Amino acid sequence: MTPRTTDWWRHAAIYQVYPRSFADGNGDGIGDLAGVRSRLDYLQHLGIEAIWFSPWYLTPMADAGYDVTDFRRIDPRFGTLAEAEKLISEAHERDIRIIVDVVPNHVSNEHAWFTAALNAEPGSPERELFWFREGRGDDGELPPNAWQSIFGGSAWTRVPDGQWYLHLFAPEQPDLNWRNPLVRAEYEDILRFWFDRGVDGIRVDSAAMCSKDPDLPDYDHSVFPDPHPYVDLDENHDIYRGWRAVADSYSEPRALIGEVWLADPDRFAQYLRADELHSAFNFDFLGCSWDPTALRTVIDQTLAAHVGVGAPSTWVLSNHDVTRHVTRYGRPDTSTAAGIRQYNPVVDEDLGRRRARAAALLTMALPGAVYIYQGEELGLPEVEDIPAHRRDDPIYHRTNGEDPGRDGCRVPLPWNGTTEPYGFSPDGAASPWLPQPATWARLTAAAQDADPHSMLTLYRQALARRAAEPALGDGPMQWLDYAPDVLAFTRGESFTCIVNLSATPVQLPDDAQVLVTSQPLSQGVLPVDTSVWLRTA
Ligand code: GLC
Ligand code: CA
Repeated sequence: MTPRTTDWWRHAAIYQVYPRSFADGNGDGIGDLAGVRSRLDYLQHLGIEAIWFSPWYLTPMADAGYDVTDFRRIDPRFGTLAEAEKLISEAHERDIRIIVDVVPNHVSNEHAWFTAALNAEPGSPERELFWFREGRGDDGELPPNAWQSIFGGSAWTRVPDGQWYLHLFAPEQPDLNWRNPLVRAEYEDILRFWFDRGVDGIRVDSAAMCSKDPDLPDYDHSVFPDPHPYVDLDENHDIYRGWRAVADSYSEPRALIGEVWLADPDRFAQYLRADELHSAFNFDFLGCSWDPTALRTVIDQTLAAHVGVGAPSTWVLSNHDVTRHVTRYGRPDTSTAAGIRQYNPVVDEDLGRRRARAAALLTMALPGAVYIYQGEELGLPEVEDIPAHRRDDPIYHRTNGEDPGRDGCRVPLPWNGTTEPYGFSPDGAASPWLPQPATWARLTAAAQDADPHSMLTLYRQALARRAAEPALGDGPMQWLDYAPDVLAFTRGESFTCIVNLSATPVQLPDDAQVLVTSQPLSQGVLPVDTSVWLRTA
């Protein structure tokens, strides 16, 4: 299939598939590539232009596949390399691009490099691929420093000969030493492996954390030091310049999309310079509360940060690491920071869903690319009552349950039917790997398919309109002063998006034609928590 453009990443609607929870083809209760292949028609009908796959590689699943044993093999739970190749070409036949997730910060503790390092002597070249150090204290019984794992507990684990190794995440995810040229060469080769198989882009996991200050200095965890010993070191840029050269060596250049969580927009933008990554996720937008001033500030800061480096902005509401936004928007505090992972909090789900509908239209109208996390198009809420014995996320286990972890946004998708597994698995299959709520019958794709008021219908309408509207996607936008606490902007000559975040309905402009609306309108009035796309003269 001839590619439409080589800069698809500047404007595309990109759908995140979390393979374990998307669709189960073989009936073991775990999503797989056969399941994805059987749902490509659904994704095409939805109107997305690319799929980002969370890791599908060989893994012991200590962190749901973000602990990779071998980047050149597909985990047998998901399928085979031949199936992945088929999936890539079947997606391409539908004009859908493929992005795969590459995790450079760490590998699995079952990776051949790490098992070799454990079998080798302290100080050996095998150990130099990781961060092995002697401990502190008289007998080295204390970890080399006080760094904490992002998943809870110490960032160090001791091995039988007494040395310790660094893992910023779980102990099953030893951090690689990016100062070692073998690490760099290996990852550039992994990129080629997937690009040679037709993959169009790479999502770079934890992209700003790869390099470490080799002195491994202690720091106060209650403040964010500058410079930080492992977040956003300048050396990172050199890594991605190498990756960019690989991506650009293809006749149709491949795209690099970074997971870059940084507070400083200018430091963030440095990753998007012309010879580094193509784009990065916008976590400020993802974390922003449902508030007109906060949203406008984040949008303006985002655009300002990107313009200097000529990179397109991205807009994200949810992913596999955060509370689903239907739930977040239904809480008294709608920012991610406050809303992150709770047990059965008070949530007004109807309000959350209404705001999520309005947010979808806002997001898809902004300049740049948009990411949609699987199930968002069904309006799925976070599942906050998963029983303890079914929880899987290492965050839950490493914090002794203090933090419920991320399982609540990873519950297998409901496709059809009225009870578990809601078509996620074929009839008579094993139970889904996480339990699905009894209330999801009305949220299945089948239940929403023909309903003109469903979230699925709204996403289909908006994505179709977005693709057909030349002024949407990449390009400029212009704010309008419309009404207090209302966000309004134009794209091009004749497209306007209005989002009513105020407490009262507002009048729409006369003689505007409604293209898409997140709630039914009557008499030219835009209700509260509603967005509309207009054709204006
Ligand atoms: C990223 C992933 C997350 C994973 C972590 C460690 O933040 O999105 O799911 O647990 O990296 O690889
Ligand atoms: Ca399966």
